[in-house]
Amino acid sequence: MAKIKNIEFYNYRNFKNFKTSFDNKLNILFGNNGCGKTNILEGISLIAKGRGLRNSNIKNLIKKQEENFLIKNNLEIQKNVFNIEIFAEQKNEKFKKIIKINNDSSKDSLSFLNQSISYLIFLPEMERLFQSSPSYRRNFIDRLIFSSRNDYNILMNKYKKSLIERNKILQSYNFDDDWLNRIEAEICTLGLEIYKLRNLQLNTLNVELQNLKQNHNFQFEIKLEVKDSFLNNDINFEEYLSNLQNSRLNDKQFGGTKIGPHRSDIISIVNNEFDASLLSTGQQKTIVLMVLLAQCNYLVNYKKMNPIFLFDEIGSHLDKQNRQILLDMINRFEIQFFLTGTDKNLFSFVSTNAQFYNISEL
Ligand SMILES: Nc1ncnc2c1ncn2[C@@H]1O[C@H](COP(=O)(O)OP(=O)(O)OP(=O)(O)O)[C@@H](O)[C@H]1O
Ligand SMILES: [Mg+2]
Repeated sequence: MAKIKNIEFYNYRNFKNFKTSFDNKLNILFGNNGCGKTNILEGISLIAKGRGLRNSNIKNLIKKQEENFLIKNNLEIQKNVFNIEIFAEQKNEKFKKIIKINNDSSKDSLSFLNQSISYLIFLPEMERLFQSSPSYRRNFIDRLIFSSRNDYNILMNKYKKSLIERNKILQSYNFDDDWLNRIEAEICTLGLEIYKLRNLQLNTLNVELQNLKQNHNFQFEIKLEVKDSFLNNDINFEEYLSNLQNSRLNDKQFGGTKIGPHRSDIISIVNNEFDASLLSTGQQKTIVLMVLLAQCNYLVNYKKMNPIFLFDEIGSHLDKQNRQILLDMINRFEIQFFLTGTDKNLFSFVSTNAQFYNISEL
């Protein structure tokens, strides 16, 4: 699987001209606030499909006052090294991300790249995952699904487009019934598929979390569940469709579709008793780390995929248990890690041969 050998930035975010090589195993980026650590992780995440870990507008990747950015890197995939180039292309005011692999941007090359690279991401906001909005938790789970199925975002985009289309039709004065029926049928097919994939993902994670519990002397029993007032165990296409048809008038007034996987929440039940939002910030961080560890176990052992870990600001507020989980990830898997923190000392507990980069000085 993929390893990032080095990276170069030209007019990307706060970097005019930046170059560094990376270690195959453990890279620790440290430096003052604002020196560009998150930007580097984002630059790495842009090698995969999509808009990177900040889900940013492509235009914002271009250094202020500049015309375009360029990210270059060498990516090793099963002992072969590929040259990757990423930049923006402007079409009718819109900026689009372009990727070239060995100077080739054909569909086949891109699909090869997408199948070879996958990321597991920790962002500082995730410390409050269980207190933030349902959309944040849905995104978290959707990202994990995407890490093992790189076509998942196509499904999600199609679904979102169909919802927008349905709303447009409902808002129009004189609408075409056939067209609305077709769009609603499409929403049901796609929506059921999303429900199914999310369920599979949560079941997989729940099994892996059980297995990991023993290794880590983990004090909590965690169960992830979908919370959705519409969903029940045997929801089927016809029922879904008739629900949509019956709610046209309401949805027209509401300005959107009120049922479906875009309205689900993902909750985490602790010890069969209470919701994880009641846990402390540090304890919530433990759960997120355990879920990422569980997902990595699944990817490596069952999908034969080696994801790259991008952990932003992971160094701060790590107690003994959370350090142990992080060390376990580092020692357990032959994969590449990128960790960031403001201070080198935050990582003194990492005993293996880590490469340290002082980003403020590069
Ligand atoms: N398009 C851009 N052009 C120029 N500068 C930018 C652009 N986008 C972001 N920046 C700047 O890049 C700087 C570094 O941001 P980044 O988030 O990577 O810092 P960081 O090292 O992760 O800091 P922290 O420790 O606070 O998380 C910020 O000062 C930001 O304003
Ligand atoms: Mg940052």
